[in-house]
Amino acid sequence: MIGVFDSGIGGLSVLAALRSAYPAADLLYYADTANLPYGGRSPALIRRFAKEAGKQFGGWGADCVQVACGTVSSLALDDFAAAAGCPVSGVVLPVVDAITRDGRRRVLILSTEATARSRVFDAALTAKRPGVATLSLGCPLFVPLVENGFFAGNDPALLSLAGRILAPGQTFFPDAILLGCTHFRLLAPLISRLFPGVPLYDCGEAAAGAVPERFGRGNGTLRVYVSDDPERFRLAAERTGSLSPGVPITSAAGE
Ligand code: DGL
Repeated sequence: MIGVFDSGIGGLSVLAALRSAYPAADLLYYADTANLPYGGRSPALIRRFAKEAGKQFGGWGADCVQVACGTVSSLALDDFAAAAGCPVSGVVLPVVDAITRDGRRRVLILSTEATARSRVFDAALTAKRPGVATLSLGCPLFVPLVENGFFAGNDPALLSLAGRILAPGQTFFPDAILLGCTHFRLLAPLISRLFPGVPLYDCGEAAAGAVPERFGRGNGTLRVYVSDDPERFRLAAERTGSLSPGVPITSAAGE
């Protein structure tokens, strides 16, 4: 079974991509909604959450886990993997590969605050392509906005807020924007309005394409677990259109 992990609904696009690539795969999505948002926490606390989440997947018997959270991928992937006890991949390297493959040279990286402070995407880009210019912008309001359904690309209030948050990116003149948090994919239409013509690279989409085919066999089952209220998660997930209505969502508390 392939596990997919995020703090909230951000990784559902990764789940959907895996489902369409491997219709026979058994999939298990776990969202640590009790501790969301991760991005404003200290590295030590993020590592603790990652260990606890990894342990859950170990207990569920995952064959591999795709961490669909940029924050855990940047700060705590090793902790997560040690606790899970199975192959674990993050979202940093696949998107960095895609950007360097396309020869981009000025990369604006949008992520949670913790990811931005870690500079992990910057370091991976520079290691792969020395001389690339990067600017990391932490966007602490984006995850709570998306979780609460505020991501419409034509909302003038959102556009003006995003414009203020992303203003330093305008004077950087990027030739690529790396969405380093899986929640930000839902804000892509809004971000594209602020940076017309600049290609967006979603870390989740790149990672979903990198899950090895050998994990794609099974009976096509899907289980969804959350660490807090399942109904609240269902509401948030269904607003994004990436989780079919009727999929059972179970509380992982006490497991
Ligand atoms: N989707 C997570 C990420 O990619 C959100 C982190 C958070 O909970 O702040 O970083």
